Amino acid sequence: MKGPDIKYLFEPRNVAVIGASVKKNKIGHKIVRNLLFNKFPGKVFPINPKGGKILGLDVEKSILDIKDPVDMACIAIPEKFVFDTVKQCAQKKVKFLVIITSGFSEIGNIKEEKQLVQYAKKNGMRILGPNIFGIYSSKVSMNATFGQKDILSGNVAIITQSGALGIAMMGKTKTENIGLSAMVSVGNKSDIDESDLLKYLVENKETKVIMMYVEGVKHGERLVGILKKATKKKPIIVIKSGRSKRGAMAAASHTGSLAGADEIFSDIMKQCGVMRAESVEEAFDWCKYLANSPMPKGKNTVIVTNGGGMGVMAADACEKFGVSLYDDTETLKKIFSDSVPSFGSVKNPVDITGQARVGDYEKSLFSAIKNKNIHSIICLGCETAVLDVKNLKKVIKEVYAECKKPIVFSFLGGTKLEHVITHLREKGTPIYSNVYEAVSCLGAMYNHFDTKYSIFHEKKINPADYSIDMKKIKSIISDVKKEHRNFLLSDEAQELMSAADITFPKTYIASSIEEAVASAEEIGFPVVLKVVSKDIIHKSDVGGVKLNLSSVEEVIDAYQAIIHNCRHNKPNANIKGIEVTEMVKKGTETIIGARRDASFGPIVMFGLGGIYVEVMKDVSFRGFPLPKKEVKNMVKETKTYPLLLGVRGEKKKDINKIVDTIMKLGIIIKNCRYISDIEINPLVVYEKGIKAVDIRILLTN
Ligand code: ACO
Repeated sequence: MKGPDIKYLFEPRNVAVIGASVKKNKIGHKIVRNLLFNKFPGKVFPINPKGGKILGLDVEKSILDIKDPVDMACIAIPEKFVFDTVKQCAQKKVKFLVIITSGFSEIGNIKEEKQLVQYAKKNGMRILGPNIFGIYSSKVSMNATFGQKDILSGNVAIITQSGALGIAMMGKTKTENIGLSAMVSVGNKSDIDESDLLKYLVENKETKVIMMYVEGVKHGERLVGILKKATKKKPIIVIKSGRSKRGAMAAASHTGSLAGADEIFSDIMKQCGVMRAESVEEAFDWCKYLANSPMPKGKNTVIVTNGGGMGVMAADACEKFGVSLYDDTETLKKIFSDSVPSFGSVKNPVDITGQARVGDYEKSLFSAIKNKNIHSIICLGCETAVLDVKNLKKVIKEVYAECKKPIVFSFLGGTKLEHVITHLREKGTPIYSNVYEAVSCLGAMYNHFDTKYSIFHEKKINPADYSIDMKKIKSIISDVKKEHRNFLLSDEAQELMSAADITFPKTYIASSIEEAVASAEEIGFPVVLKVVSKDIIHKSDVGGVKLNLSSVEEVIDAYQAIIHNCRHNKPNANIKGIEVTEMVKKGTETIIGARRDASFGPIVMFGLGGIYVEVMKDVSFRGFPLPKKEVKNMVKETKTYPLLLGVRGEKKKDINKIVDTIMKLGIIIKNCRYISDIEINPLVVYEKGIKAVDIRILLTN
C-alpha cells in the first residue's frame, strides 16, 4: 500500500498530541506548549484519558473523539500503551505517527518495533521514530518537539539520529544565529529515514542547506541514489560519529543501528558529493556560510592580507580545502597595483603590507569585487598600530554588503578586534579569528560548486561489455553452493576469473609427479607448487606451498615434500591434487576487491597490495555501480598511485587495466547475489596487463 505524501509530515494541517499533560515537566505538555508558542496555524488536539483543558485547549479523551481529520499524531505515552494507540490512529486514518516514546529496538525490543511498523504500513500510516524528540518545520511554524520553544526560522534543515544531540544543536542554532527550515529527529528509523526526508527537503524552497547527524545507515543503497541527485541541487553536510571501533560500538547500542566501516562511509559520502564535517562546530560554520553566501561564478580565489605569515597560512589552508588561488600575474597587477605599495606584493596572496590602513583594505577589496576574473575573496588581517579597528568594522560591513561573490574574513589581534569579530559574526558576517575556519567555509562552498557542476552520467552497465560470462559465473557458484561451501577453491576461483576475462598466472592441477613435471615444463620455469584441498585453507601453515622452483628435480622434491607435509599436518584432509603455477614476475602489488556491504550494498575497493594492506591501510572505496571515471579517481586518491605512474625511471603501469578489473569485480558482485566478497591480493600490475595472483571468493551463508 502506497503511504501518505511526505509533505504532510512537514506540513500537517493539524496535530494531535497523545499523552498531552497539564504537568509542565511532562514531554506531552512541552510539545503542546511548543506548538502553541510557535503559532502553528493548524489545530492542535491534546489527547489524555483524563480530559479537561491544557494551555487553554480542550482535551479529548481519545483520538477517536476528534471530529476533524488528523494528519499527524505525536505519541508521548509509555511504550506498553503505544500499540493500542496506534490502532486507534489507524481507525482515525492518521497519516503520520511521530513516536517520541523510547523503549523499542534501541533496547532490544525489535519485534515490538517491527510489529508497529508493519501495522502502520498496512493501515496507510508512516512512522517517524520511535525514540525521538519530534519534528520542527518552518513552512507551517510547527514545533512539534520537546526541545526549546523559540526557534529561529531560516534555511538550514537538520536531520538527526541522536535525540539529545539534536536538542542541543537546536539550542546552538539560536546562539549561532542559524535559521532552521526543519529539524527532524529520526531516532530508531524504524520506517522513515534520511532518504524519505531528503526527498521533501531537496524540493523544499525554504531549505538551502541540509545537515545530517548519522550514527549508522540502514538502507545505504537507496540513500546513495538519493544523495547523488540531491547534492546536485543543495549542499549536504554530514557528521557521522562512530569513527573509532569504540565509537561504532556505542553508536550501535545508542540507536540499535548497524554502523558500517567508517572509511567506507567516508568514501561513499564523497562519491555522493556529501561533505563530511569533523565536528558540530565545523558543520555549523559550513551551514551558515553556504546558506548565506552567493555561489561563485568560477574558481579564481584571491587572498588579500596585511601580513605575509597569515597569507602563507591561508595558502596552506587553500590547498587542504581545495580552494584554487588565482595566478594570472598580469591581471593581478592591474587590479591591485593602485592599492599595494611598491614593497608589497601583487602576487597571490596579495600583500598590502603591515602599513596598510583601513582605506587600503577598502580600495583593494573593492578592486577585487569589481573584477570579473576574481570569483572569490579571502580577506585577512593582523591587528597593527595603523589599523583603526573601529573603522575596520565599518569597512568590513560595507564590503560584505556590496560583495556579490563569496568572501570570507579572518583577523587576528587583541580584545578590541575580538569584539569586532564577535559583533560582525552576530550580524552574519563570515569572519573568523582562525584562518583555517575561514578557508574551510570557502572550501565547502567549492566542494558544493564542483559537485553541482560535475557531469553526472549513470549509464547502465552491461556485463557483456566487459567480456563477463555471467551465466558461467552463476553456474560455478551454484555448484559450490550445492556442496554447502561458502568459499571457492583456487581452481574454482580461477575458473571464475576466466569467465570474467581476468588474467591469472598459468596454472594446472597435477595428480602425479609426472603430471606436475609436464605442467612445469609447459608453463616454463620457475614455477610454484601449492596443495589443492577444500580441507586446507591456510596452505603455507601446513607446508603446502613451495615457491621459485627452477628445475625438474626441484619440482619432484617439492611435490613429495608437499604431500608429506600435508599428510603429516592434516592427516584427514582430502587432497585434490597439486597446483602448478607460473612464478609471477615482479610488478606493482595492488589489492582490489568487491564486497556486499551490510549498509551500502555492493562496494568496490582498491589499494596498496601485498602483506602490508592491514598496516598501511592505503585503500579507497566506492559504492557500485559507478562510472569508470570515478573508478579512476578512486585509484588516484591512494598513496599507491604515484607508484603506478612509475618511480625513478620505471615505466607507467597499466592503470586502465586496473580500472577495468575493478569494474568487473563490481559487476560480478552486483549481478551475483550469492557472492559476498571477492578479493585479489596481490593483483600484480605491469606496464601492460595485470595478473590476479591470489584470489579469495566468499559466498553468503
Ligand atoms: N492516551 C493518551 N494519554 C495517555 C495514554 C493514552 N493511551 N496513556 C497515558 N496517557 C497520559 C498519562 O496519563 C499522562 O498524563 P498525566 O500527566 O495527565 O497523567 C501522559 O499521558 C504521559 O504518560 P506518563 O505515564 O505520565 O508517561 P511520561 O510522560 O512519564 O513518559 C514518555 C512518557 C515520555 C513517552 C516516556 O515513556 C518515554 O519514552 N520517555 C523517553 C522519551 C525520549 O527520550 N525520547 C527520545 C528523545 S531524544 C533524547 O534522547 C532526548
